Amino acid sequence: MITKDMTIADSIKQKPDIVSIFSDTGIDFCCGGHRSLEDALNEKNLDINSYLRILNSEQKSEDKNLDSALNLDKKELVDYIIKYHHKYELELLDKIDDFLKTLINVHYSTHGEELTNIYSLFLRIKADLVPHFYEEEKKYFPPFINGEYVDFEKLIDGHETVGELLQELEKITDSYTAPDDGCNTYEYCFKLMKDLQDDIHKHIFLENSVLFLK
Ligand SMILES: [Fe+2]
Ligand SMILES: [Fe+2]
Repeated sequence: MITKDMTIADSIKQKPDIVSIFSDTGIDFCCGGHRSLEDALNEKNLDINSYLRILNSEQKSEDKNLDSALNLDKKELVDYIIKYHHKYELELLDKIDDFLKTLINVHYSTHGEELTNIYSLFLRIKADLVPHFYEEEKKYFPPFINGEYVDFEKLIDGHETVGELLQELEKITDSYTAPDDGCNTYEYCFKLMKDLQDDIHKHIFLENSVLFLK
């Protein structure tokens, strides 16, 4: 049973498939996972009782992966994050990069300025994430698996920064909506950016609210 005084992170640990509800209603469950549901809902002007009813109603478990990740031990969870989030997001970053270059080339005359802004913001996100993943894999995770004390503050700050940059990306792409005169590549590229954002949110949740607390 999910209640309003639970933290967002604890509610997901109890019922992993509700991440899709949080995601659809703009509730920050990655960097803001430590907040109480009540605070987060009040901030968004959402009715607490009806929202709780939705959270507590039966749902199909769409997020089997996240569900299974919650039961892994420390080493298994690190392997899971590297395999299903780092690797996947690195591939997405390269694909989006290539598609954005194509879009700038093809649509320069009609959408040059907005695509240039999107691309420069995207590159800031990419430049943050690529070294962040390797830093985790080479510097932070190995001693942590060995049971040594590791201070994760710098990583948590990095998550916050990427979260803010993604919010900006969502805003300047009108929630990843391609323009009416955009081609299929436009649509597909924007969909990939949305996939990237969704995946990063789950990834940060797993690190901030599950792995780093083990
Ligand atoms: Fe990570
Ligand atoms: Fe991270």
